[in-house]
Amino acid sequence: MDKIAVLDFGGQYAHLIANRIRRLNVYSEIVDADIPAEKLKDYKGIIFSGGPQSVYDIDSIKADEAILDLGVPLLGICYGHQLLAFMQGSEVRHDKQSSEFGLTNMKVKKAEGLFKSLDDEEVVWMSHGDIVAELPSGYEVIGSTEKGEWAAIANFEKNFYGVQFHLEVTHTKSGMQMLQNFLDLCQVKKEWSIEKFIENEVKAIEKKVGDKKVFMLVSGGVDSTVAFVLLSRALGAERVYGLFVDTGFLRWKEREKVEKTLRNAGFTNLHVKDASNEYYEALKGIFDPELKRKIIGDLFIEVQQKIVEELQLDPNEWLLGQGTIYPDTIESGGTKHAAKIKTHHNRVEAIEKLIEEGKVIEPIAQLYKDEVRKVGEEMGLPKEMVWRHPFPGPGLAVRCLCAKEEFYPEGYAVVEGKINDEIEKTGISARILPLQSVGVQGDYRTYRNPLLLKINDSLDWKMINQLATQLINQNEIVNRALVHCRPVEIEHMYVNESFLTPERIELLQKADDIVDNFIKENKINDDIWQFPTVLAPLSVNSARGETVILRPVQSEEAMTANFYPMQKALLEELCDRLMELDGITAVFFDVTNKPPGTIEWE
Ligand code: XMP
Repeated sequence: MDKIAVLDFGGQYAHLIANRIRRLNVYSEIVDADIPAEKLKDYKGIIFSGGPQSVYDIDSIKADEAILDLGVPLLGICYGHQLLAFMQGSEVRHDKQSSEFGLTNMKVKKAEGLFKSLDDEEVVWMSHGDIVAELPSGYEVIGSTEKGEWAAIANFEKNFYGVQFHLEVTHTKSGMQMLQNFLDLCQVKKEWSIEKFIENEVKAIEKKVGDKKVFMLVSGGVDSTVAFVLLSRALGAERVYGLFVDTGFLRWKEREKVEKTLRNAGFTNLHVKDASNEYYEALKGIFDPELKRKIIGDLFIEVQQKIVEELQLDPNEWLLGQGTIYPDTIESGGTKHAAKIKTHHNRVEAIEKLIEEGKVIEPIAQLYKDEVRKVGEEMGLPKEMVWRHPFPGPGLAVRCLCAKEEFYPEGYAVVEGKINDEIEKTGISARILPLQSVGVQGDYRTYRNPLLLKINDSLDWKMINQLATQLINQNEIVNRALVHCRPVEIEHMYVNESFLTPERIELLQKADDIVDNFIKENKINDDIWQFPTVLAPLSVNSARGETVILRPVQSEEAMTANFYPMQKALLEELCDRLMELDGITAVFFDVTNKPPGTIEWE
């Protein structure tokens, strides 16, 4: 099969490039960035991905120089763009003034080759602090932005292209057109499809499992169900044993619903284990999100191993099956050069060890959610199962924030004052909130405070979107922005010592259930990709209580996301319903895109 190689320099979107190419029905493989050129001879085109490093650092990853002599088209994206210029003698340097994060307008200077059929001006998506500071010889500028003269460059003779922006994310409007143009330049045949994936994967499962059986951790979500169906197709349902663990962090009445769905999807071998007491016990007094994730992930394995013992299964006859998808691996820092954003429950150390021992099977580990859904549809799973909103393995545990006490970073009052001076003319005021959440910026994890914006009259989402992005980019101590759902005069804020308890989870379950029913009632469920409801131990104007944060997002594959601009009247009605819950002192709405925020708060 004709194929394209994506050299992975550790960027959060490296693998997304391969996903996009597959969408264009061309087979694409991710390979290590330091692969020798001779191993790339069978590829029709080569792409250098983005990455978190700086090309001018001695230790940063470089590509084999001989790749430039292979005679196939080459495309460098972000770090890859800088590397391409650097390998040909151009200066690359850090330049704070020229860094660009988010949507940026680019003037197309030459609508040829990679830029064939583009408009004179295109919206592209940037995330960089380093820049290409001079044009390599033999190259022309094909696109410039206000801050980046050499935002896109081309050597038409060799078919080498470099772009500072990420053409693989959906925010770059003509990104797919550019990729299609690149594939045309590579003269590659369109031979990849979902049907082909299923066919190949079934064969691969048969080969890997041999005469063993698979013990599968299932959650009722689309990923583990699709993985289960693939395994069952390859091995027969009786050789796939499903374990559904109730951690205590499921949604309201979720256990019953999941059991029903899984049985309907053909799980004949299903075992349900209520392990909620073990989970609450293990998480007593834990505040740190990464520690929480580790404990939850490790406990999944412990519970599974206990069941193996109880059932007297011979561990040598069984493999562990998981519905891991690609973002779980990349965000956990699980590819060679990627930074850790957060540890997904199926990527904790104990599992990594089993993977090394060859004892884990993950049939959809290379796919993104949109591809998993296509596989599910192709294999005949019901629509409501395939299109369920994603729900994370650690469940409500990562939506129930824990804190020991209030936390403000050093110098926060000065930053808050500066922000307020700057936005005074808009009629909006800002407060830095005394707790933290996880974010992702420039391929790195952040753990910072949110900024609460108090909007006085009409909700103009476009303006809020721009303002939120700008304020987060300019102020390093914050990584999220929120707005009030109803105006509240904040006199005092308290953060009470809180960890995961059944009482707090019950309150969150109730809030989450109100939200879930509300979006279905109002028929906006399908417009939203995922809607985390977060409980924060932040009490507003009262000594004891909590805050609900609404985090609806639109996304395609979870690597990037935009906040969902909910209608004001709906937002207010939802807020009023949530405020009726005992113990809720405020409801805020998250207006952060990903990046700089992550979808989940922890
Ligand atoms: P973030 O918060 O990283 O989330 O933007 C991206 C997507 O991944 C889901 N998520 C998880 N899924 N195990 C999972 O199965 C996990 O540990 C986990 N953490 C985050 C999240 O809900 C979103 O869809």
